[in-house]
Amino acid sequence: MPETTRTQVVIVGAGPAGLMISQMLANRGVDSVAIDIRSREEIENTHRAGILEAQAVQMLDDEKVSDRYRTEGYEHEGTDIRVNGVSNRINFKELVGATVWLYPQTDVFIDLANARERDGGDVRFGVSDVKVLDEYSDTPGVSFVDADGNQQEVRGDFLVGSDGSRSICRFLIPEEGRHQYFREYPFAWFGIMCEAPMSYDELIYATSAKGFALISQRTESVQRMYLQCNPSDDMHSWSEDQLWSEFQARLEGPDGFQLKTGPIFERTLLPFRSFVQEPMQHGRIVLAGDAAHTVPPTGARGLNLALSDARALATRLAEAAKANDVSKLDGYQEAALKRIWRAQNFSYWMTTMLHSLPDENPYDYKRRLGELEMVLGHKSGRTHLAEAYSGWPNEEDGL
Ligand code: DHB
Repeated sequence: MPETTRTQVVIVGAGPAGLMISQMLANRGVDSVAIDIRSREEIENTHRAGILEAQAVQMLDDEKVSDRYRTEGYEHEGTDIRVNGVSNRINFKELVGATVWLYPQTDVFIDLANARERDGGDVRFGVSDVKVLDEYSDTPGVSFVDADGNQQEVRGDFLVGSDGSRSICRFLIPEEGRHQYFREYPFAWFGIMCEAPMSYDELIYATSAKGFALISQRTESVQRMYLQCNPSDDMHSWSEDQLWSEFQARLEGPDGFQLKTGPIFERTLLPFRSFVQEPMQHGRIVLAGDAAHTVPPTGARGLNLALSDARALATRLAEAAKANDVSKLDGYQEAALKRIWRAQNFSYWMTTMLHSLPDENPYDYKRRLGELEMVLGHKSGRTHLAEAYSGWPNEEDGL
């Protein structure tokens, strides 16, 4: 016989979206159990994006997660968009009164996992053999084998699918009404982590005839950088010298910019995909984060979107759970999808504007430069970019 647990909300997927929802529910007096097939160490050691919009860090404060970002993160008032070696600073603070924080997703996860532990939250990592039970009943749940090998069953009044881009929960939305919108791109990023000092005090998004490069950061001595590549390129076999000269070539300019380099200790290939599934709710089942949508990494919207889903969902879900009333979830999808499609557009736009297509002809290239000039050369263009990059206001959540 499995050990059974009764809770109010079952959360499948304990990454940033699932844990933030669990934390926000707890702060509103609602119990949840969150499960994840990955171990805590595995999630902590997966390198993901690094930029949080101001409203995302605000959630870390408001929901009493942690204020570690203030001491270990870096507040950025702008970013640099470098076009063929010419720098264009986008001053978020001046243009839209906002800043962003360089604070990696792994740290957000660590803070959330610690906060749930501190507050007595029920989070089970490293589970296996997960099956969703009675998803269309009044008591949906999951069965699984826990990290100690014991068979478990958890039932709740609602079930949240926050199980990431390889979600099983998204298939709980009945097929008749389910729409999946999808796009692939003919390039990828090759990401590295290296031991080197910062080359610049903000991020550099660099586009050149040789392709795109992003110079990001982690700490004073560890840096994160990405190179546009062909998804089939085997850059794992490139020497460090080859990688550094490719980075430098994409950054080179009349200002003599010189990238600071050092030993590379991690290499990853990141695919470029855009995906949205609608609807995000069916009865007592709701989706949040990558389970419902993914964006290509340019512009760092993924984690921010997952957290804004949590924000749009948790208050409504807490009300729904307290009253055991599904109608209290009304408005979640509408609010979330509005932001999601905006972010889809922003990520797509940043991606296509900054990357060269493998078959880019001289016309395409010159048109792209025209677009960049239109955006970067005018205050209205820079403002549009700054507003999207630093996050749209909370009122958009419709609460
Ligand atoms: C990082 C990743 C991004 O996709 C981005 O747009 C900015 C920063 C990062 O990993 O630091």
